[in-house]
Amino acid sequence: MLNKKTIIAIDGYSSCGKSTLAKDLAKSINIAYVDSGAMYRAVALYFIDNSLKFTDSSEVNIALAKINIHFDIIDGVNTTFLNNNNVEKEIRSPKVASIVSEVAAIPEVRTKLVALQREMGETNSLIMDGRDIGSNVFPNADFKFFITADPKVRAERRLLELRGKGIESSFEDVFNNLKHRDHIDTTRKTNPLIQTKDAIVIDNTELTKEAQLALILSIINK
Ligand code: DC
Repeated sequence: MLNKKTIIAIDGYSSCGKSTLAKDLAKSINIAYVDSGAMYRAVALYFIDNSLKFTDSSEVNIALAKINIHFDIIDGVNTTFLNNNNVEKEIRSPKVASIVSEVAAIPEVRTKLVALQREMGETNSLIMDGRDIGSNVFPNADFKFFITADPKVRAERRLLELRGKGIESSFEDVFNNLKHRDHIDTTRKTNPLIQTKDAIVIDNTELTKEAQLALILSIINK
């Protein structure tokens, strides 16, 4: 479908279905997918597991020197590895969700992960989702999408997703965590979530994931 190296950036708020969309799109057009949020989650997990304080810059630097993140496809599923351990399930836990935005706001963390993300896009086509992909990681991306949805609908979707994974939580907790993350993601000093002028905005509050995918495919194929 694509006859040249293509970078597709998908940015937007937490829990508005960016990852599902990016995965489905990657499958449809047969290119690689990178979940940049998983990388910030893996760093947050490292701080938790090693009882390191992310508020202490020397502990941050010690941690970053020891962190190695890569992705692999396991049973057809894109899977995150932290220092060669499969952490795909753990990085989605509420304990990681509760600190990940603070961790993602640390400039040293962003410098390391952004360099890794750019490396991944150097040779091959890919779709990457996150918060600063179109604005900072790949400012020259071939396509930039900015995905948004009503916050209550996003919280409902996240709650269902967590339940599906056997993680119990209340609507209120999920909603509050989401609002908290939106606030930090959009107001942090280093590479906040912004809607760039050249991004195509898609509000999927009332769109099924199939309709959203069809819409994006029609834009890419134009
Ligand atoms: O997409 P997600 O919910 O898995 O992202 C986890 C956190 O990482 C979220 O608080 C936003 C942050 N993040 C970021 O700052 N920049 C990115 N490119 C991706 C995620």
